[in-house]
Amino acid sequence: MTHQRLTPQSKLPNLGTTIFSQMSALAQQHQAINLSQGFPDFDGPRYLQERLAHHVAAGANQYAPMTGVLALRQAIAEKTGALYGYSPDVDDDITVTAGATEALYAAITALVRPGDEVICFDPSYDSYAPAVALSGGVLKRIALQPPHFGVDWDAFKALLSDKTRLVILNTPHNPSATVWHSANFDVLWQAIAEREIYVLSDEVYEHICFDPQGHASVLAHPQLRERAVAVSSFGKTYHMTGWKVGYCIAPPMISAELRKVHQYLTFAVNTPAQLALADMLRAEPDHYRQLPEFYRERRDLFINALKGGRLELLPCEGTYFLLADYSAISGLDDVSFCQWLTTEKGVAAIPLSVFCADPFPHKLIRLCFAKQPSTLQAAAERLRCL
Ligand SMILES: Cc1ncc(COP(=O)(O)O)c(C=O)c1O
Repeated sequence: MTHQRLTPQSKLPNLGTTIFSQMSALAQQHQAINLSQGFPDFDGPRYLQERLAHHVAAGANQYAPMTGVLALRQAIAEKTGALYGYSPDVDDDITVTAGATEALYAAITALVRPGDEVICFDPSYDSYAPAVALSGGVLKRIALQPPHFGVDWDAFKALLSDKTRLVILNTPHNPSATVWHSANFDVLWQAIAEREIYVLSDEVYEHICFDPQGHASVLAHPQLRERAVAVSSFGKTYHMTGWKVGYCIAPPMISAELRKVHQYLTFAVNTPAQLALADMLRAEPDHYRQLPEFYRERRDLFINALKGGRLELLPCEGTYFLLADYSAISGLDDVSFCQWLTTEKGVAAIPLSVFCADPFPHKLIRLCFAKQPSTLQAAAERLRCL
């Protein structure tokens, strides 16, 4: 009997390998310095690693509770109370997920029904659109313009309709490196208060904020947090992106729905990592408070090392990304420029147009500075000569 190979009809026909994987592969092939994908080239806290090894050796190797290990949820509740003046309920509001990515997917899947409209701001992180598409939602994108990437609130209000179900925002913002202030949340609230619209607030860079006012969380907004899902990532906070542990905080009725998705997507996140993270939060509660200074030093080192070159740098208020305008150097489109930069000049970056659905006419690239000082110096030397 011959077996015929079947080709499924794609539910995401326009999606290929992400630009992040492509650029990292190209960087490896050409031995370029990789400032494309957003991950540190240094290790996370030793203590966290030791606690992971400890819990594995101590036999904490079976399923964790579906919502997350209790000690970790307790530590998250305390941290949230200290940071945002709001203490979520340990049992009803906090769900530990397989990275922020799973939290985003679970929230979108739980909230968006076929035909619902979802508003996001372009450039936008690449995991939102496929999740909305798989739920049958219709994405309405608002283009943010460089250099400040501010929201045109009149355009936002004009997009609202009875079908609008969800607004997805991200602050500090990848890739623009801008941040929202509490005033932005006030305007958002005024715009949606009378409608049944939920908010998904992607705050994975909450501890990498250089703005003097600090990070504005949706959780600090008393009305908005009643209809919001706030998403965090331990991968970003502890320089351990490979651990893929994150969490989300949402009111009970929303959490109940997103947990129905989480339950059958992963069921539970790996136990020893959760226990180790709970230990870390208890033992070194100030660790994440030092992050703005830690990354500010790297940002400033990189900016200083780039001085004298022809890249024009945009303001960086948060995240570990820096945007650079290359229009003084090349007339190439941004994808071709990044390929040329990697293969000919030995530095890999991400073109900004890949975060946008509509044509993005600007000549901007994103450089990741979550790297050791020596890596940043070496990359800057090459970029200064362009
Ligand atoms: C804006 C944004 N959201 C979510 C994520 C995913 O986080 P995690 O690695 O915890 O899934 C990232 C990772 O780069 C990100 O930049």
